[in-house]
Amino acid sequence: MARVYGTMQTALVTCREELEVFGKTTQIDNIITVDWHMPCSFEPFLYAICIGKTRASYNLIKKSKCFVVNFIPFTLKDAAWFCGRHSGMHHDKFKEAKLTKIESNHLDCPKIKEAIGYIECNVINEIETGDHVIFVGEVTHQELKSDEKRLFHNGENLFMTTQ
Ligand SMILES: Cc1cc2nc3c(=O)[nH]c(=O)nc-3n(C[C@H](O)[C@H](O)[C@H](O)COP(=O)(O)O)c2cc1C
Repeated sequence: MARVYGTMQTALVTCREELEVFGKTTQIDNIITVDWHMPCSFEPFLYAICIGKTRASYNLIKKSKCFVVNFIPFTLKDAAWFCGRHSGMHHDKFKEAKLTKIESNHLDCPKIKEAIGYIECNVINEIETGDHVIFVGEVTHQELKSDEKRLFHNGENLFMTTQ
């Protein structure tokens, strides 16, 4: 069933941190699919993402204090679905979703080459809501590469784009 609060633009948030896995320090580069994201100040330019406390990405962003919002074309629908249904604790989502990893302009954080645009952020605030946390990011770089049709989500596996 469609959601009562309607259609939202789906984005992929990328993040990086070092984690202790079985006593070994490993660098994790991860991707999480998000519908809950928004600009929240012009001056300074701030952008917020809302991340569930159970997500692997929650721990990564809480520690690294940075993230990139990758705005994606409709053609990446299957990759977005994959990244939204699998945990970065058990999957290399760049590899498995066949997305190309590139480095951010101003952060020690990966981003996705196939995206149509980016917002790169340093976390300046965290707001506990209920089971999610809003990470408020100060934008260090923004870039729009193309005007390809974007991916929108209306609940479950119902995706669409503009005409
Ligand atoms: C279309 C779509 C939108 C989603 N939006 C959000 C979101 O805004 N915030 C969130 O915490 N999880 C969201 N999720 C769920 C996460 O993407 C999912 O739990 C993911 O597996 C978490 O990955 P991680 O454990 O590697 O961080 C969404 C999933 C889908 C499919």
